[in-house]
Parts: sequence; structure tokens; C-alpha cells
Amino acid sequence: MRIEIPRESERFGAVSIHSVQKVLELDAGLQFQQNEAQTSQIIRRISYQQLHGIEKEMAVVVPMRGERIKLVQGVLCGIPNHCLVIIMSNSSRHPVDRFAIERDAFLRFSRFTDKRVVVVHQKDPALAAAFAAVGYAQILDPNTGLVRSGKAEGMIAATMLARLLQRKYIGFVDADNYFPGAVLEYVHEYAAGFALSNSTYAMTRIAWHSKPKIIEDGLFFAKWGRTSRSTNLLLNQLLAEYTGFETEIIKTGNAGEHALTMNLALKLRYSSGYSIEPYHYINLFEQFGGLEGTVLSKDLILQHVDVHQIESRNPHMHDTGKGDEHIDEMKYAAMQVIYQSPICPKKLKRQLRREIREMEEMEQVYAPVRYYDPLAELDDGAFRAALVERPYAEFFPPQPHLHVVPSPMLVDVEETVVLPPTPEAPLPTNGKP
Ligand code: GDD
Repeated sequence: MRIEIPRESERFGAVSIHSVQKVLELDAGLQFQQNEAQTSQIIRRISYQQLHGIEKEMAVVVPMRGERIKLVQGVLCGIPNHCLVIIMSNSSRHPVDRFAIERDAFLRFSRFTDKRVVVVHQKDPALAAAFAAVGYAQILDPNTGLVRSGKAEGMIAATMLARLLQRKYIGFVDADNYFPGAVLEYVHEYAAGFALSNSTYAMTRIAWHSKPKIIEDGLFFAKWGRTSRSTNLLLNQLLAEYTGFETEIIKTGNAGEHALTMNLALKLRYSSGYSIEPYHYINLFEQFGGLEGTVLSKDLILQHVDVHQIESRNPHMHDTGKGDEHIDEMKYAAMQVIYQSPICPKKLKRQLRREIREMEEMEQVYAPVRYYDPLAELDDGAFRAALVERPYAEFFPPQPHLHVVPSPMLVDVEETVVLPPTPEAPLPTNGKP
């Protein structure tokens, strides 16, 4: 891959956010010859071997819920063979067991391609038992004892699996992408971001080049969606309040397509549903921004957190039939995590309170955001023990003295919701949940 270096970077404590980088060539050839050096100070050539070396240590997670199987097969087709794939499905099991149909199709795909594909249902009782065994009941629904629904919840569960599978990197691609070529590009770009970073705490986020829409009888290559426009503006406003300089550096506030080093993925705190991506930024600033009241780990003082934003070349074409309500829900969730953060400056908080009220007055009230603790301290031996009878356990690396839990059980859990410090003023809820 041939890619420009970032034109500028903003530093927020230990967090370096790099401006969007353009890709000049998707494939820029093989490894350097012995006497060949980088030819430019501003353009980096990342050899195929370098990308491959990173990708083979990467788990690519495909979160899905009720997507069309043919669409997801295209996504799987785009993921390089040397990556390990984790499909985290929350598709329905009743009255028709959609998940069973998906699993058959994906495992058949795995046999035909000789690719390692782990297919998991988010509501598998064994997964719930694994979280209960490590004291992470906050992710379980108290009514069912199973992992809660939500994209973020699926991603958190997949992160624990990727950790057990000893992956060094974890990338996410939505299951409803029409272009396998775009998926392949995203994975290469994830790897390129890591190749450019000299920190073991790094994140790559994709800024779509365009999102084509059919307008009248032609194609229009839109750049920004409504949610991204609003979230980026708010995150940049937050940065500007601290630095005193207006900025447009953040262009990937809602990037569903992103990847993290496992070191960083385990340290982050998460938020529920579609708020997970904007909250990445917020939590990076909360934990590693060096603000009053935060303690940077020694590791991070020596390193830093690198956020690379890479502009993809393929158009991003995904299932857009989810309607305006869905867009508003994502926008609302992003506003909530910024508003509720203890680092949200007063001025921005006032503005957000107004905007959230306006949405609520229009009857746009969505589920409250939940927060989940970092996964780093969880006992992976105990987590793994609860999953040992699952077919994908064959991919777990050998581990001596394993304590085996014979069969998964539904667990009786109490709800533990970890909330951030109380916001400055409670938000009106119009009596709705
Ligand atoms: N495992 C799991 N569990 N997956 C889910 C769930 C769930 O409860 N709910 C949704 N998904 C899957 C969908 O099947 C899809 O593959 C992916 O998560 C994204 O969900 P969509 O509902 O298709 O979201 P979107 O396309 O509107 O929004 C995407 O892009 C936004 C940026 O524009 C998402 O990735 C957002 O998170 C992102 O902010």
C-alpha cells in the first residue's frame, strides 16, 4: 500500500490523533530490495509482506443481526484468508432458527476456503456463563441471564474471544457491505495504520471516501452521513475547548470500520449499542488525556496512543434500508456519551443539553446508554473454561491445567450498570425509559 503520512496531528495527553491519510495505491508491491529505501519523506510504501505479517495476527470480527446471508458471504469473501474471522451473530433463533442457517452457510464457506471462521451466537448460554464466571455480569441481561443485545455488546464478546485466540489485533467490519473489495481494502488499511505506528496502543479508523446514493436516476457520491457530520463536529468542539484552537481533525467519530491493537482494546471502557465508536474517542481522552484526576499508566507514559484515520478508496455501499429513526438513534447515542462524560466542557454540555431536549420534545427518546468496564483484568482462563465444549474451542491454543466447566448453564445474575459520574444536570426523559 502506498499512503501519505498525516499532514498534521493533534495531541491530547498521551493520545495522538492523526489527520486523515489518503491512500495512493492499494497494492504497492513486495518487500524492499536490500538497497531500496523509502523514496519519499511524505509518502510511505508498505510492502505486501508487512501488511500480511500484521493481518495474520488479526481477528476480523463481523457483528451481525438478521442480515442477508448472501451479503455476509460477500463480506467473508473480502477478508484475507490469513486473518481469523469471528462472526458474532445476534440473529433470531425463534420461530425460525436463522442462526442455524447462517452457521451452516458460514461453516460451509470456511470448508471451501480453508479459512478459520468462528461462528458464535451472542445469546449462547455458554458465552453468558463465561462472562458470569469472570465477574462481568454487567454485560448480561438480568431477565434472561444472556448477553445483552446490541452491536457493542457483540463486539465486546468478540474481543474476549479474540483475546483467547491470542490475536494481537482486532478489526471490525459490518456484515451488510455490498462490496467484498471494500472489505479487503479496510483490512489492508487497518494493517497499514498499525504498520505506521510505533506504539502498541493504536487504533485505525476508516473514513469512507464516499457513500454512493441513488438520487433520481443517477449516482451521487455523498461524503458524510447525518450522524457522522454531527458527531465529528461535537468531538472536534470538545477538543477545541481544551486546546483553544478550532479543529477539524476528527473525521471518524462514528467509524463502524475500525481496528485496535489488542493492548488497547483490553484497556478501553466501552459503551452500549451504536454509541461505541464515538465513545472510543471520549474514553481515550478520559483515560489517556492526562486530564486532572486521571493517572496514566507507566506503559503509556513511555508510549502513547496512536489514532490513524485512513480514507478508503472503494465506495462504501451498505444496506441503507434502516430508515431515519435508526440514524436519529445513532446521533442521539453519540450525543449522550459526549454529554455524560465528566470531561465534557460546560459550554458544550449546555449546547448538548439543549439539542438532546429538542430531540426528546420531538418524541425521539431512545434507550439510555450503558457503560462497560475494560476487559483487561478479566481472568481469561475462567472465561475459556466455560467455552471449552464449544466447537470453536478447537482454535484455542493449548493450555495446561485447564479447569473444565462441563456444560453451559443459564446464570442468575444481578444487574450491574456502571455509570460515569453524574452529569451536571439530569436530562429530561419525558417520563420515557
Ligand atoms: N452481533 C450483533 N448484535 N450485531 C449487530 C447487532 C447486535 O445486536 N445490531 C446490529 N448489528 C450489526 C448489523 O447486522 C451490522 O452488520 C452492523 O452491526 C452495523 O449495524 P447497522 O444497523 O447496519 O448500522 P449502520 O450501518 O446504520 O451504522 C454503521 O455505521 C455507522 C457509521 O455510519 C454502524 O457500524 C455504526 O456503529 C456506525 O456508527
